[in-house]
Amino acid sequence: MTFLKLHAVRKSYGSVVALDSVDLSVKAGSRTAIVGPSGCGKTTLLRLVAGFDVPDSGTITLDGEVMAGDGQKVPAHRRNIGIVAQDGCLFPHLSVADNIAFGVNAERAVRHSRAAELMDMVGLDRAMLSRKPDQLSGGQQQRVALARALARKPRLMLLDEPFSALDTGLRVATRKAVTEVLSAAGIPTILVTHDQSEAFAFAEQLVVMQRGRFAQVGSPQELYARPVDPATATFLGEAIIVSAEVADGRADSELGQLPVEDHLYRGKAKIMIRPEQIVVTRATSKDQPSGTINDVSFCGPAFTARVTLHSSGASFHVNLPSHETMSSGEAVSVSILGKAHLFKS
Ligand SMILES: Nc1ncnc2c1ncn2[C@@H]1O[C@H](COP(=O)(O)OP(=O)(O)OP(=O)(O)O)[C@@H](O)[C@H]1O
Ligand SMILES: [Mg+2]
Repeated sequence: MTFLKLHAVRKSYGSVVALDSVDLSVKAGSRTAIVGPSGCGKTTLLRLVAGFDVPDSGTITLDGEVMAGDGQKVPAHRRNIGIVAQDGCLFPHLSVADNIAFGVNAERAVRHSRAAELMDMVGLDRAMLSRKPDQLSGGQQQRVALARALARKPRLMLLDEPFSALDTGLRVATRKAVTEVLSAAGIPTILVTHDQSEAFAFAEQLVVMQRGRFAQVGSPQELYARPVDPATATFLGEAIIVSAEVADGRADSELGQLPVEDHLYRGKAKIMIRPEQIVVTRATSKDQPSGTINDVSFCGPAFTARVTLHSSGASFHVNLPSHETMSSGEAVSVSILGKAHLFKS
């Protein structure tokens, strides 16, 4: 069931079109992630949903009630939407406990016990409840902001880069904890992030934005495997995109002959494969394209290297498992697993 619906929502600031006729459906209890380059309109979208700003046209409906559009404007404080803004925005003069309990309508003792429970939930020590925000690290402040947004039991949660100040380990742990809290409470959530892997791990529905528009909406798996265009493909991860001649479900390119999903398309097209589809082996074979390894660098779980194909001179990055050390200048065979993705236009 659709819980939040945006229909043809537009917003301009002077000559800048921040949102250009955007449609979005968020199901009850679901998790949506929005990714896109800086300035593409992600925060603007959250601000319109939260009620901090008004669309120029279009409608925003929450749980069947029009929030904005059709001559309606429900003020932010009546929408019961939790938001964690990009900059946290804690009240500097209030303690952590008072920040979290701010806006909770209950007696002081109840509010403070609720604040303590929420500290556990977001993985912070209760001893910090009496501190002021400036006595916390950036990451701790972000988690207090999350606890504050959760305190009012919102019917929708909007998270704008909430984990960006956390280091990698803490970031993953906090994201998992927050996902569990929101899922257990059945609160539908929209997460804005710059981190594609975070969006993949978090979302059931992923939105890729480009210049105020939605380039593509779908499951993370679908968008990664079948992006609509090369820009979306490279935004979601490394992609090797080459020109090909396609016929009868096969693409002929500098990567050799590869199967494609579309059996009807015939003609010139761009095709894409992901680096993990490439297998590089030392033994050279006449039947497979050959290449030379260079630019080998260690990145933890794997080595990354560049392979230059002998046939065309085309080169691309590959990941090599850390146990298989290859050095620059080695000759290799290149084989490709699975199908290539076809961009028809
Ligand atoms: N109040 C404002 N006045 C004028 N222009 C604005 C205003 N708010 C946003 N913009 C412009 O609208 C566009 C979209 O901004 P928005 O903050 O939504 O981007 P974003 O996708 O959240 O970017 P980032 O990833 O950097 O946070 C930008 O070009 C921005 O400069
Ligand atoms: Mg933003």
